[in-house]
Amino acid sequence: MFNPENEDQINHWNGEAGDKWVHMAELLDAMLAPHGQKVIAATPLAQGDHVLDIGCGGGALSLMAAQKIGANGRITGVDVSEALLDLARKRADQKGVKADFLHEDASNFTLPEKADHALSRFGVMFFAKPAKALAIIRSNVKKDGQFSFVCWQGLKQNEWGRMPLEAALKFLKTPPEMPPPHSPGPFGFADPDYLRDVLREAGWQNISIEPLSSKMAMPGRDAQEAAQFMLEMGPISRLLQEQEIDMAPVEHAMATMLENKPRQNGKVLLDSQAWLVTAIS
Ligand SMILES: C[S@@+](CC[C@H](N)C(=O)[O-])C[C@H]1O[C@@H](n2cnc3c(N)ncnc32)[C@H](O)[C@@H]1O
Repeated sequence: MFNPENEDQINHWNGEAGDKWVHMAELLDAMLAPHGQKVIAATPLAQGDHVLDIGCGGGALSLMAAQKIGANGRITGVDVSEALLDLARKRADQKGVKADFLHEDASNFTLPEKADHALSRFGVMFFAKPAKALAIIRSNVKKDGQFSFVCWQGLKQNEWGRMPLEAALKFLKTPPEMPPPHSPGPFGFADPDYLRDVLREAGWQNISIEPLSSKMAMPGRDAQEAAQFMLEMGPISRLLQEQEIDMAPVEHAMATMLENKPRQNGKVLLDSQAWLVTAIS
């Protein structure tokens, strides 16, 4: 059952955001693959394990885990977006992976059998009551099982999130209101002290929170295409729509900002800073 306290995020992800992620899935997965690989490498996965993927979205991390646990392993993914779960199911079928992708709120669910380990790639920052949600996740993992996930550091440390806001600012009729610290959203776990506190409160032990810095390759063959992608996917897109702002000059400003950034095979590279977190049940 969905927790009413998470209603805003659930509506967001089970609506427009989920649809956009499905549409852009291949691009997003290519961009976030290195983060997924770090999560997998940090987890002691063994053949035959049962792995729980929190906020599994289109299932990319689940499928990476499937390669480690083999045909006798089992994947359970939990997400609130039906569109993304459909994509995850399709992808698992295509790869012949045994997986259950459940339409559940990760802050309120019980698996019939506990998982050996839980994982997440940027799927844990959207809970109104994080300590409560992290305790529920723990209750679904066997004793001594590990929870490994990545979450973003702050907006300031993440160019991919900050730059669209900077580019759009002078075009907006009303500047955006910054959410209070710790609010559910991509940067909800930016503060490592807060993150450690909520994990502890949820009963997780041996908590490790390590910085993960990388240059993230933006989708698109050049600065113009990268600008289009960033404006469409970022939180700024809703604001621009609501304020009925013409996208073309914003895109141009964004592309100009991206022109001077380093490149890899034409793709724009931007700074990204995440936390790689592990904890034991
Ligand atoms: C940034 S996306 C990441 C998706 C996926 N882990 C990936 O890396 O491709 C965040 C995901 O968290 C999911 N989510 C948000 N709130 C949730 C909740 N309360 N319970 C389960 N999933 C949730 C969203 O639907 C979305 O799929």
